[in-house]
Amino acid sequence: MSKVWWKESVVYQIYPRSFMDSNGDGIGDLNGITSKLDYLKELGVDVLWISPVYKSPGADNGYDISDYQDILDEFGTMEDFDRLLEQAHQRGLKIVMDLVLNHTSNEHPWFIESRSTVNNPYRNYYIWRKGQKGSEPNNWGAMFGGSAWEYDTATDMYYLHCFSKEQPDLNWEEARVRKSLYDMMTWWCEKGVDGFRFDVISMISKVQTFPDGKKDGGLYGNGWPYIMNGPKVHDYIQEMNREVLSKYDIMTVGEAAGVTLTEAKKYANTNGKELNMVFQFEHMCIDEEKYGKWTTKRYNLLDLKRVLSKWQTGLEGKAWNSLFFGNHDQPRSVSRFGDDRPEYRERSAKMLATCMHMMQGTPYVYQGEELGMTNFPFEDLTQCRDIETLHYYAELTENGIYSNDQMMDCIRARGRDNARTPMQWDTTMNAGFSTGTPWIAVNPNYKEINAKEQLERTDSLFYYYQQLIRLRHMNKIMVYGHYKLLLPNHKDIFAYKRNYYGKEWTILCNFSEQEVTCKYANLTGKKLIISNYEEHKKGILQPYEALVYQE
Ligand code: GLC
Ligand code: CA
Repeated sequence: MSKVWWKESVVYQIYPRSFMDSNGDGIGDLNGITSKLDYLKELGVDVLWISPVYKSPGADNGYDISDYQDILDEFGTMEDFDRLLEQAHQRGLKIVMDLVLNHTSNEHPWFIESRSTVNNPYRNYYIWRKGQKGSEPNNWGAMFGGSAWEYDTATDMYYLHCFSKEQPDLNWEEARVRKSLYDMMTWWCEKGVDGFRFDVISMISKVQTFPDGKKDGGLYGNGWPYIMNGPKVHDYIQEMNREVLSKYDIMTVGEAAGVTLTEAKKYANTNGKELNMVFQFEHMCIDEEKYGKWTTKRYNLLDLKRVLSKWQTGLEGKAWNSLFFGNHDQPRSVSRFGDDRPEYRERSAKMLATCMHMMQGTPYVYQGEELGMTNFPFEDLTQCRDIETLHYYAELTENGIYSNDQMMDCIRARGRDNARTPMQWDTTMNAGFSTGTPWIAVNPNYKEINAKEQLERTDSLFYYYQQLIRLRHMNKIMVYGHYKLLLPNHKDIFAYKRNYYGKEWTILCNFSEQEVTCKYANLTGKKLIISNYEEHKKGILQPYEALVYQE
């Protein structure tokens, strides 16, 4: 396996709006990030992935870009960005930009031109179709609810938007679109950024006949088979690689909704023709039900083990995994996969971190995960900000599928705002995030859960992450070692081995609040690598115990 820096790195994701506010307007910003670089350095991560900071009207918190080469006023200026980049580099931290290439904002000048007349030079930058018998060109539903087509009076045609109507999809069939995007990316690379996270990159190539999707009881047809991993997606990414990526020593990760193993081996192939790695989402879907993520169903550990092991084994030596239990689109990992009750929160969060960081791939830490930040006790919709949550609340309650109370239960369990509440720095007002009124409420548990408290306590979750990250930097087995699942049918224990040039590590994680017997839990004659307990019991894993040893 070839050895490269991005395989040996740990990435930290920053959601700028919620990370640190430097000027008291209630919104996190670039100078706020710069002011916390020493904290991130202390944690020990190598790379910062920063969610979009470009000009944007903010329909989807920056994932609707209206100018790729400028900074949103709320976040600061290009000078602030340059300073952040420089200060990060001074500390040996790399910066990865989040790029949305599947769509722009409806306020992007390209779209304003495009929609004006059918003959406009930018018309073909987006996907325009005539209606069928007075309604949409086909029955596809959008990711954020409603139809994927929006009627535009100016030219009496519809445009495609896989997400909200404020996010029209770019037409990648048009060579000028691709050229414009590559030029823009080159500009960022020349500035010295260290890589890109490509938003929904698996969706850029649509089946050009735009056929109706199957309707399985839902309100709209399922267009995703004609959108995800579409016919030309690999041609486009290879072209982008030739034109831009291959010219720089950068890290690239593609968000690949709907990706299969076979597809991932193309996107993230070790031949380097496309991307370094992809985010797959199979383990993020094991707790879905009839209405997708909108449920309170708890996942089953057997599914988690099966899915993650499939990806560990399936990509080994052929492509590269990204490892994550949370991001800005997912609930808080300790609430979802661990146990966020006060008596178990930190222990189970350490266990989850161990389980993930010991796997093969590049680990991603989502801001606040290193503190064990939890889901938010949303009580009513006025506390929510996320466009997806607001759309689905309307769609599912207005169609009589859920009552208000049922939908609020789902939002508390799955809503994206859970991950977007402000970073909890200390016990002062607004958790030290802002001196103004935060754009979204701070989690009421900030007096117990905050960075200051954890930095003052040596056995904290923060220092446990620091230890895991150090271990990875010092032990190639953690990065490159071969993965083998143990106890595949055990319902409470996630256990596996890593092997590397004659070395063997055993990783044991008890996902339950009970003591569980485990024949591998025996440190006699072994070297302890890390654990979230001081004392160990032979043959037993204690509640949420994580134990890693070397043979
Ligand atoms: C990705 C982003 C998400 C955004 C969507 C549309 O999934 O992670 O936050 O809403 O793309 O750009
Ligand atoms: Ca601010």
